[in-house]
Amino acid sequence: MTSVPDSSAHFPQLRLRRLRGHAVLRELVRETEVSVRDLILPLFIRHGSNTRQPIGSMPGHDQITVDLLADEIRSITDLGIPGVILFGIPATKDAAGSAALRDEGIVQQAVRKIKETTADLLVITDLCFCEYTDHGHCGVLRERHGRTDVDNDPTLDLLARQAVSHAQAGADVIAPSGMMDGMVSAIRRGLDAAGHESIPILSYAAKYASAFYGPFREAAESTPQFGDRRTYQMDPGNAQESLREVALDLAEGADMLMVKPALSYLDIICRVKQAHPDVPLCAYNVSGEYSMVKAAAAKGWLDEQRTTMEILTSIRRAGADMIITYSAKDVARWLGPGK
Ligand code: PBG
Repeated sequence: MTSVPDSSAHFPQLRLRRLRGHAVLRELVRETEVSVRDLILPLFIRHGSNTRQPIGSMPGHDQITVDLLADEIRSITDLGIPGVILFGIPATKDAAGSAALRDEGIVQQAVRKIKETTADLLVITDLCFCEYTDHGHCGVLRERHGRTDVDNDPTLDLLARQAVSHAQAGADVIAPSGMMDGMVSAIRRGLDAAGHESIPILSYAAKYASAFYGPFREAAESTPQFGDRRTYQMDPGNAQESLREVALDLAEGADMLMVKPALSYLDIICRVKQAHPDVPLCAYNVSGEYSMVKAAAAKGWLDEQRTTMEILTSIRRAGADMIITYSAKDVARWLGPGK
């Protein structure tokens, strides 16, 4: 018989504190590490010029106009942050969100400006209509039997057109966030037909109807003008359903998956990673998760750096390969550029 370590060893032979006594040893046996290289920074691009408008509910973040973007992008690459995800705040909104489709749209302009500034930064565009519609919902509306809701299938065609327009401007990755059924296949078909077959899709596959998006809606000026998003975003009570959402998006051609929010959904991140260990998984550490820590830290109730690093570590430990987080710059300052 070969000698197998006795897995039933217990105290006093086994003392797990032995591995915690020395700081260097603690680092050597650490299972999960957070690196700036795993983080993606959201940016809010605003219409107009020469404006940096602080977002009150998200300290450290501004809406920024395209003409000020070059300096901002240089500071992001200097910090070694590998990618950004863009959100646009257009000058005008209408029922169909038509400003989202224009070559001279806010996100399209921003992508071109970033690509003129650097080739090193990955540019992801969030693909949705809620920032562009006057009603604030994520697609075009239809009224039936006295209930108004987002009309799924007509929205798919508009999503595909918006995706092509982002790709034409130079976006590296398209990230649809609207939770429409069939959105990934519609966008894939649209991109391929326009010659963008090599642009990957990062699907917000399991996106929950969450109160944690509150500060973002101020930042992106995308609060629904009536009702809420519960007819398209997932119910926080559901976990099994996330596996159906994810499987469907993969079958439709998603290249990468996202779970959102992150902190209250660590179990979902874990399940999705276990179900699809071979698919890159992103988690979105959303606005409310960021603002809670900032607010508590400002009051002296939490240690901002330790709390933030612990949150990001937990998201990586749950199974996320990469994290979209408003803390990316803070982390780069704490750990060192690109560390
Ligand atoms: C757009 C979108 C939202 C977020 C990302 N993309 C808002 C929403 O669904 O209401 C939220 C991000 C955050 O809270 O940080 N559909």
